[in-house]
Amino acid sequence: MSISTFSNALILMVSLTLSQQAIAADEQALKTEALSIVKQFGGALKPQLVHAMKQGGPVHAIDVCATQAPKIAQKLSTKTGWEVKRVSLKTRNANAATPDDWEKEVLKSFDQQQADGKKVGKMMTYSLKGNTFRFMKAQGVQPICLTCHGSNIKPNVRKALNKHFPNDLATGYNLGQVRGAISLTKFLNQ
Ligand code: HEC
Repeated sequence: MSISTFSNALILMVSLTLSQQAIAADEQALKTEALSIVKQFGGALKPQLVHAMKQGGPVHAIDVCATQAPKIAQKLSTKTGWEVKRVSLKTRNANAATPDDWEKEVLKSFDQQQADGKKVGKMMTYSLKGNTFRFMKAQGVQPICLTCHGSNIKPNVRKALNKHFPNDLATGYNLGQVRGAISLTKFLNQ
């Protein structure tokens, strides 16, 4: 190998390593940003849900949830430039929450991890392909969720749910299962 071929190879190696480091740093920054958006989503929705349950009971809270959840997702999308949605393998709001192929695979793997004993609160995953960064964080079933997503749904709650969502699949859950996930997409500038 001549000196110049050698030094060219060396330059190539060094620059590859540097660009890999740059990608790793970008991924870390994107993950951090994604997590902060997940927090903002939960931080906006959960207090409204809890408040509505206290004020007017679950039937009132269903109205709030049905109108506020999509609004909050929309507002966050506009504010952050990320696509923000909630997805599930058993949808209530099929218009908004039907997962695409990648999301389906991730949701299935979350279910598997939960069956294997992993805590839902720790489950997240991401993918960076081309200029598309995607991130999903699992949403676990907590006690408050059972009122509207559990097995023993009261008749008046059932009636209110049917009014908005006649094709509701999102019931029958147990505590600690995966209800769905927050799914985020960011298109990166190249
Ligand atoms: C007062 C009833 C109520 C309670 C309590 C409730 N939800 Fe829901 N949930 C709804 C309604 C109504 C929708 C559909 C609204 C929408 O378009 O996002 C929904 C939709 C969802 C979705 C979007 C996917 C889909 O199936 O449409 C997820 C994820 C979800 N809920 C998780 C939870 C979790 C986790 C909890 C507990 C922290 C919870 N919910 C508590 C009523 C409720």
